[in-house]
Amino acid sequence: MVKKNACVFISGYGSNLKSLIKRSRDTNFPININLVVCNNLKANGVNHAKKNSIPFFIINTKKRNFENFILNELRKHNISLICLAGYMKILSKNFIRKFGKKIINIHPSLLPKYKGLNTYERVLKNKETKTGCTVHFVNENLDSGKSIVQKFFFINKKDKEQNLKIKTHKLEQNAFSEAIIKIFRYY
Ligand code: GAR
Repeated sequence: MVKKNACVFISGYGSNLKSLIKRSRDTNFPININLVVCNNLKANGVNHAKKNSIPFFIINTKKRNFENFILNELRKHNISLICLAGYMKILSKNFIRKFGKKIINIHPSLLPKYKGLNTYERVLKNKETKTGCTVHFVNENLDSGKSIVQKFFFINKKDKEQNLKIKTHKLEQNAFSEAIIKIFRYY
């Protein structure tokens, strides 16, 4: 199998990046992770790139033209898929258009419910009975692109935000790799 080159964008802990790196070592998995982009100097996630000798850079999103810099790096590494794995910065319409290839995002809710931030808090406040995660294509509107994979669990009455986060993260790792397999098979 000829693998595609992928870039993972992160801002924080990097548990999804870690599991994608692990999955990508499988010869049957459709992508290699060739580049990591991070917008947070303190993000733990870059350690996963370092440990695995994956090129990475930390971007200052306050600088003008930072998106052009990223686009250039994506071209250099021949990237054909961007995975947003906890990247907490909205990509501009211009960036999405100029990249012109697939961009997918993982979100900790059952979209279209609970787009945006503080999902666990809002899920509990609204006394939802289930929650989960969604991997979807990125379009110009926040958390609104076509869903690729969704996974859910039932909420226990005793669940607090922290439990929901732990349970969601567990689902996310499989959801992300399933979505990647699916998009190279069907889209
Ligand atoms: C994940 O739960 C992901 O769904 C969420 O950030 C977390 C990153 O965790 N993304 C968003 O909220 C995007 N709107 P990680 O850094 O451990 O992979």
